[in-house]
Amino acid sequence: MKKLQLMAIVASATILIQCTSSSTTVEQPSILDSTALQAAYTQTVNGKNVGIYFLKNANNVEVAITNYGGRVVALVVPDKTGTPTDIVLGYDSLAHYQNRNEAYFGALIGRYGNRIAKASFNLNGNTYQLAANNGPNSLHGGPMGFHNQVWDVVNHDDHSLTLSYLSKDGEEGYPGNLTVKVIYTLTEANELKIDYEASTDKATVVNLTNHAYFNLNGQGNETITDHELMINASKYSAVDSTLIPAGAPVAVAGTPFDFTTAKLIGKEINTDDIQIKNGLGYDHNFVLNKTTSNALDKAATVFSSVTGITMDVFTTEPAIQFYSGNFLDGTLIGKGNKKYGHRSAFCLETQHYPDSPNQPDFPSTVLEPGKKYQSTTIYTFGVRK
Ligand code: GLA
Repeated sequence: MKKLQLMAIVASATILIQCTSSSTTVEQPSILDSTALQAAYTQTVNGKNVGIYFLKNANNVEVAITNYGGRVVALVVPDKTGTPTDIVLGYDSLAHYQNRNEAYFGALIGRYGNRIAKASFNLNGNTYQLAANNGPNSLHGGPMGFHNQVWDVVNHDDHSLTLSYLSKDGEEGYPGNLTVKVIYTLTEANELKIDYEASTDKATVVNLTNHAYFNLNGQGNETITDHELMINASKYSAVDSTLIPAGAPVAVAGTPFDFTTAKLIGKEINTDDIQIKNGLGYDHNFVLNKTTSNALDKAATVFSSVTGITMDVFTTEPAIQFYSGNFLDGTLIGKGNKKYGHRSAFCLETQHYPDSPNQPDFPSTVLEPGKKYQSTTIYTFGVRK
């Protein structure tokens, strides 16, 4: 008798818990038109199938990713009123990514994210020449870097997308056949997790990242200078006029680069400072404070008081490039015909330091055969009221 009563109590408690949890998260219709997006992305490029893949969780967070460049095309999160808000820049169709000026919107970047000075490096006695696609330097793996390649779709379900790519020996000038795997995972804790793995058959250099452009007021809004930013970095790389690190990292204390305590991005962005001038704003490598060298520590927090949306960045990488959208000038027209103006987005690209292949004192980016490259970055979304 007692056992039955207990079972009845447990059963009603379970029902209560189910009712409570379903009433806290009301599933909303998607603001992404999946039929239109599928039509705009499903194509064959260089004999390979391109498509668009959706991830969704129970809190109405949605991500759309194309395997063309492994690009995050849309990232929808609820704002403080529950309104779904797309917070990344991008284009409405595949053709736009292929035809418009390159800004690396949402893309996976490789084989080497960021710059390599004079588009060349030495490894094991050999000199490797890369394409100079950024003044005298190589940027983001070259013109046909990973952002412009069709990735193979290994697996897709509602919560994750696994992509792989074989970068052949000599592609964009880099040595070794590099096999790369990237797993995008959307969790119920509103985390977009990106796991990177790579292996090679010849010594090479590797520095993988994602180049999402965020505007927490919603993509297409005018500016991000009103966002509050914290970067967990006591040092940053001062750069020359071509944005190559000029020697060892320097202290942020007492400079416009001190984001150790949250402040508005716009607060010192126009300061009369040689480093701000070199970057035309912020476009610098911040050296993260780490608990241990590969720990998945917090790197940054961003907050928009307009939407209340917060973004925390965690990474195993030693550094992060904070780019304040200085090269955006209103000429790129993005999703929903939005004009992407000066500083209308920011990037937080987790990475090893720029130009590491030429700067032996920086943490190494060399990958040897038989070793595994592994890196994880998590973007976590929430609201602050
Ligand atoms: C990175 C670079 C910037 C710029 C953007 C793309 O963030 O550091 O200088 O090239 O990519 O425009």
